Amino acid sequence: MAIVYVDNKPCEMNPEENLLHGCLSNGFKLPYFCWHPALGSVGACRQCAVKQFKDANDSLGRIVMSCMTPAAEGTRISIADPEAVAFRAGVIEGLMLNHPHDCPVCDEGGECHLQDMTVMTGHSYRHYEFDKRTFRNQDLGPLVNHEMNRCIQCYRCVRYYRDYAGGNDLNAFASRDQVFFGRSEDGVLENEFSGNLVEICPTGVFTDKTLKHHYARKWDQQFAPSVCVHCALGCNTDAGERYGTVRRIVNRYNHEVNGYFICDRGRFGYEFVNNERRFRQPVLKGQPTSAASARRYLDEKIAGGRAIGIGSPRASLESNFALRTLVGPDHFYSGMADYEAKLVRFMLEILRRGPMRTPTLHEIEECDAVFILGEDLMNVAPRMALSVRQSVRQQPMEAVKKLKVPLWLDHGVRDAMQDAKGPLYIATSCRTRLDDVATATFHAAPDDLARFGFAVAHALDSRAPASQDWPLGGEIARALKAAKKPLVISGASCASEAVIQAAANVAMAAHAALSFTAPECNTVGAALIGGNSLSAAFQAVREGDADTVIILENDLYRRAPRAEVDSVLKAAPHIIVLDHLPNPTTEKAELLLPAGTFAESDGTFISSEGRAQRFFQVCEPQNEVLASWRWLKPDHWRNLDDVLAAMAEALPELAVVRDAAPSSKFRIAGAKIPRSPHRESGRTAVLVNIDVSEPKTPDDPDSALSFSMEGTPEQPPAALIPFFWSPSWNSIQAVNTYQKEVGGPLRGGDAGVRLFEPAAMNGQPYFTAIAPAFQPREGEWLLVPMYHIFGSDELSLSAPGIRELAAKPHVAVNSDDFAEGTEVEVSCGGDTFQLPVRIRPDIPHGVAALSVGLSPVNGITLPAWGKIERPK
Ligand code: SF4
Ligand code: SF4
Ligand code: FES
Repeated sequence: MAIVYVDNKPCEMNPEENLLHGCLSNGFKLPYFCWHPALGSVGACRQCAVKQFKDANDSLGRIVMSCMTPAAEGTRISIADPEAVAFRAGVIEGLMLNHPHDCPVCDEGGECHLQDMTVMTGHSYRHYEFDKRTFRNQDLGPLVNHEMNRCIQCYRCVRYYRDYAGGNDLNAFASRDQVFFGRSEDGVLENEFSGNLVEICPTGVFTDKTLKHHYARKWDQQFAPSVCVHCALGCNTDAGERYGTVRRIVNRYNHEVNGYFICDRGRFGYEFVNNERRFRQPVLKGQPTSAASARRYLDEKIAGGRAIGIGSPRASLESNFALRTLVGPDHFYSGMADYEAKLVRFMLEILRRGPMRTPTLHEIEECDAVFILGEDLMNVAPRMALSVRQSVRQQPMEAVKKLKVPLWLDHGVRDAMQDAKGPLYIATSCRTRLDDVATATFHAAPDDLARFGFAVAHALDSRAPASQDWPLGGEIARALKAAKKPLVISGASCASEAVIQAAANVAMAAHAALSFTAPECNTVGAALIGGNSLSAAFQAVREGDADTVIILENDLYRRAPRAEVDSVLKAAPHIIVLDHLPNPTTEKAELLLPAGTFAESDGTFISSEGRAQRFFQVCEPQNEVLASWRWLKPDHWRNLDDVLAAMAEALPELAVVRDAAPSSKFRIAGAKIPRSPHRESGRTAVLVNIDVSEPKTPDDPDSALSFSMEGTPEQPPAALIPFFWSPSWNSIQAVNTYQKEVGGPLRGGDAGVRLFEPAAMNGQPYFTAIAPAFQPREGEWLLVPMYHIFGSDELSLSAPGIRELAAKPHVAVNSDDFAEGTEVEVSCGGDTFQLPVRIRPDIPHGVAALSVGLSPVNGITLPAWGKIERPK
């Protein structure tokens, strides 16, 4: 560390960083706009000015921008110097000349970085008396709102959107003193990470449009630490609620997982919680009933001794375990399709066995050569795609280091790099949204992807079995071999064990890290809980071994063909379903139990990294809604701690899950952690029409969080941070005050515990079974799955904003036999459905890509051979 003197006080600073970073890391209040820890410095706003002195004898000094000056050993600066103070006050006055001063009607008001910085600089009176510059705002789609008059021209938005997230439809447009940040014309922002503009923009230009529909100030919401339910990456979020409605999701910084950014599905998919079709009361035989009689009915069926339970990869570990306990381990069945459960268990076995380690999302950003085999990351694991996008900068950065350009000097680095990109190879069945930064891509049917992977592994290590020569194979092998931190990414998307084996061989041969994607938020947890196969559950019902089927948060029509599920559910005398929203399975329920979503429940998910992470209810469930584990638990489990203790005893591999967050007994100086910011207003008035006395806030027996603004003012452990706030920092930028060093891990460590590290470091045998080459068939197509970030995820599809953007189901082929957009009949596995056809030259001949997760294409096991014909 370097010693830098700030107003004569010696401070330790990272010499690889700039002075602004060092000052903020040391807790100084130094205003800034254009700098961001994830974006680096460009010196655009001039707000972070300090005075720098040559040495201890220099009393004159000169104004420098702290974000553009290295934190070199012995540097002497002053933040409090009157000229520096006046300079910063002048800058903000200039930036505010055209600002509409409309904080009272601005959604950002009360949590605005511009407000914070204005107060910090002491600028409280405007001298400017002339007309303000005004702009026309744009309609940017259902997720992000645009109000350009509030812009202070810091350029963060375009730097984030274009340089970091890879978008190209947002830009800065300028004419004389008019600088406009937006699109060339109205239209939906195309980038899948556009929602981060809401947090990146330091003012109210870009705000959350879904929040606007049910607006509440930050200080009027109560928050809880949560985990995204819309894919398996487990991005950390904070959910905000008021009056029983979830108002928004914001990013909860986790250095190892999502860092500062989440995807739009994760940010805006939450509105399924508020969907008016939510189940709020138990329904027995079509009639609403009380919780007590519903539970009595459930107990009667269990007492009969012939009940089975079907778990779910989108339900928490605790809910799956409670169901397993209720019906007994022998009668508990996995809620995943058979092929999926098998693949996930296989992937876990590979990761446990080693020697490849699964990296965190942060570690993926630091990898310097990446090979993706069979995964369309943007549509399956979006935040991982963003990490991979950063990884292509790693290798060119080495050249930049040699030029001695500091890595935080963003424009310097980009000038030195030009368009250079490190090695990224993508082998999939069709093109992906990461192809724009790929060194090369390869498109083939799953079996050929596997063979391609085997060839790469063989080129790396001749002991690995060979398939055939592919021109690109040697190039990929050389790139992985030359890398310091090579990475292989694969997963269950192709539904091909051969692809997974090939990826494992490449990772082993390259001594690379290995990352597997998984389909749902708790797929890994469900696999670890275990259970018999779904087809065994179906068989038990068909053969009359079970008279009651309890289905946990799971639409079985997404897991198996319609006809099969229909026949099983018809054969089941009693069907009990726990879920949030109507779906084809809930339609068949004799007893329907309203299950709490992530917003009304506590629980744990295990991410595809193998990280157990706890989420907490943000509000008291209304009506008869309960967390699924509460519906199913035995009486002697009083709270979440009891569930976790019972799970640790029954399934020792999951004992460590208890450490994912402090228990309900955790206190700081005897106090709980408040869910509401201390400025919460209006709470006392909410029920004043009923009683002028303030009612007691609800107890929370399951966590160390209180439903109140009372509690400790200290920073809680990372897993329990409901919102980021510290004195003078009301915006999301307050997160910088929670970190050990700005941009680094949170003080006290980041949230979550990893469940498995590879057991062995070497000596594992290669997989040897090489699939035969793909042979197109006359009159048939190999149907492969095609995922959509907006559309394939079941829950987010019930959020209006996401639904508006959702892909329309279709089948994509590379063929002259069909015309773009015409309706065709796709038949496969006994099912036939009509879909429009899209012509895609990137798809291999003989292969057709089918939208999955969207009706009518649900429950089909892909890849599979099928027919595509014009309707007769
Ligand atoms: S829109 Fe926001 S982020 Fe973009 S330049 Fe203006 S103030 Fe900065
Ligand atoms: S990447 Fe996945 S976990 Fe992260 S925010 Fe998006 S959907 Fe949620
Ligand atoms: S933050 Fe330093 S110039 Fe903008």
